[in-house]
Parts: sequence; structure tokens; C-alpha cells
Amino acid sequence: MKICVAGGAGYIGSHTVKELLNDGFEVLVLDDFSTGRRELLTGGDIKEIDLRDAEAVLRVLRNDEIGAVLHFASLIQVGESYKNPHRYYTHNCLTSFNLLGAMAAAGVRRLIFSSSAAVYGIPEHTPIREDHPLKPENPYGMTKKMVEDILPDYRRAYGIESITLRYFNAAGADPGGRLGEMHDPETHLIPNILLSLLGNKKELRVFGNDFDTKDGTAVRDYIHVTDLAKAHVLALKQLIREPMSQTLNLGAGKGYSVLEVIRKAEEVTGKQITFTPMPRRKGDVPVLLASKERAASVLGWKPALSSLDRIIETAWNWHTSRP
Ligand code: UFG
Repeated sequence: MKICVAGGAGYIGSHTVKELLNDGFEVLVLDDFSTGRRELLTGGDIKEIDLRDAEAVLRVLRNDEIGAVLHFASLIQVGESYKNPHRYYTHNCLTSFNLLGAMAAAGVRRLIFSSSAAVYGIPEHTPIREDHPLKPENPYGMTKKMVEDILPDYRRAYGIESITLRYFNAAGADPGGRLGEMHDPETHLIPNILLSLLGNKKELRVFGNDFDTKDGTAVRDYIHVTDLAKAHVLALKQLIREPMSQTLNLGAGKGYSVLEVIRKAEEVTGKQITFTPMPRRKGDVPVLLASKERAASVLGWKPALSSLDRIIETAWNWHTSRP
């Protein structure tokens, strides 16, 4: 079966393409390469396409025998989404509308949608279950919620079954060393720590030391990108086996503060890390921690690579092996 992977040249998309190919799926990657990287593609057909172009998306889905769409194509920077919400609403929503419209017209009935823990906003309690209220704190999270909100209508009217995956903090790199994180600019904690050690970044900054957490820094649930990728393959197989619509958290279910991550990175790399304390970053919440029970029971998914050691070790291996 041919699987269309929109945004397949991005960080999580490219790791998922690799897992799909390993599993014997035929893959068609759609990407505009504005943030995606060709060097992260390990196979499959590739079409450079602007997903905001509805006609172009429809042509692709009509001409190819597509069994399912995995939709990763999205702008992801929370900070930028505050400054330029219109760009986020038009990009993240329009690409989703176009894919859904083309799926309806071409008779593609299976979707896996990349959502985010950003839909929860400031959690009322942790661990966060999927039925926690959705109150996004930023335009990025709003775009994810907006798409989630319309999926039931596409199911009712066009029979499109979807599994929505809410990622917590994706991190780490392909254990084989072929793939890893390449954002520009890089805003995420673990690559920024490692890049600061490699001299690629001037200094590591720690945003906020006055959160209501064990050491004052923000706590996150880091999940290895290969575990995320494998969850997509399981979700796809589930949709093929038995049509269903579901929303699932993808997190490791364990929280680490920024300082704990820095300490672990010192341990893994054997290097001392210096940093500058900074005020909180706009929109950062104190704690994000997933309940992973539903993904386990629906998909039989169990993170295997998501210990913090393994996450940092694979990311370090990736960063140090690149020119
Ligand atoms: N942080 C630093 N220094 C840095 C980078 C990050 O101190 O250089 C801190 C942040 O302030 C935050 C924590 O490290 O407290 C984690 O930050 P990340 O940028 O790595 O990740 P976020 O939790 O901010 O964002 C992630 C995803 C978003 C998603 C969000 C909520 O990248 O797409 O989780 O689910 F919206």
C-alpha cells in the first residue's frame, strides 16, 4: 500500500518514513522543503509541492493510489507563532484543509494527524490524559486544536477515519545515526545543549528558574523520535486493520526539569555545561507530562528508546558525526 507522507522531510516525518520503508510500505513524500531536508530522506518517491495549493494536492491524491495520509507538514515554532499568527493559521490550517479536501475527493479514508501537547495549554493536573480540557496558550497550539476540531465532520461526511497523535517533547535521533534533528533556528532544549558544547551556538540559555517545580525550571516529557515514528506505523496498521477514530498522547510518562536534562547531558557527553539563566520564555508552561495508557491499550505502543540517557546519547551521536 502506498502511503502519502506530507512533511516527510522534517524531523519526525523523516524518522517515520524510515520506519515505514523498513516495514515494507511504499512511500510518497510530499514536502515543500522550506524546513524539510532532502538529506533526511531514506527512500520512497518524493514530490516537491506547496500543500497550500489545493489543486496541486488534489492532483497528487487523484493520480496516485494512496492508501493513507500521514500529515506532519506544519510550522512548529511556538515563539514565532505569537509574532506572526496569521502565517501559522494560514499555513497549518490551510495545508490540513487541502489534504482533507483532496482525501475526500480522491476517496482516501485514512489519516494520521500530527498534533501536539500544546493543545492542552497550562495543565490543570498531570499526568495529562487525552480527555483533559483543551486550552491552547499560543497560536501554534490553536492551529492544532482547530484541525482536531474539524476531523469528526470529515469522518461523518466523507468517511475519513483519523488517528490524532499528540506529541510531547520529541527528542533524540535515529539510533543508526542516519537521521537527526536539523531545525534552523534551533529552539529545542536538547539540541541547544549539545550545540553549545560543539561551539555551534554562543551560549546555552535556561529560560525560567521560578516555576513551581522541584528546582524551579520547567519539566517536560521527552519522547524518543524513533518511538514516535514506530507509533505512527502501529497507528497506520490499526487503521488498515480496523477503521477507527482516536486521539492519543505520545509521551514517555516521565518528567525531567531543564536542570536535570543538563546534568544528564554532562554525564552522557563527559563535558561540563555552562549556561546563562534567563527570564521565562513566553508561553512556556511549568510541567508537561503525558498519561500514555491510551496509546498503550489502543496501539500496544511501548516506548523502547525513551530513557533520557538513550535520547541524549543518540542525539549526541548525530550532532558529533555531522560536519
Ligand atoms: N529551554 C531552555 N533553553 C533552550 C531551549 C529550551 O531553557 O535553549 C527550555 C524551555 O524554556 C522549556 C524546555 O526547555 O522550558 C523545553 O523547551 P523546548 O523548546 O525543547 O520544548 P517545548 O516544551 O517548548 O516545546 C515542545 C514542542 C512544541 C510544543 C510544546 C508543547 O517543541 O512544538 O512542546 O507541547 F508546542
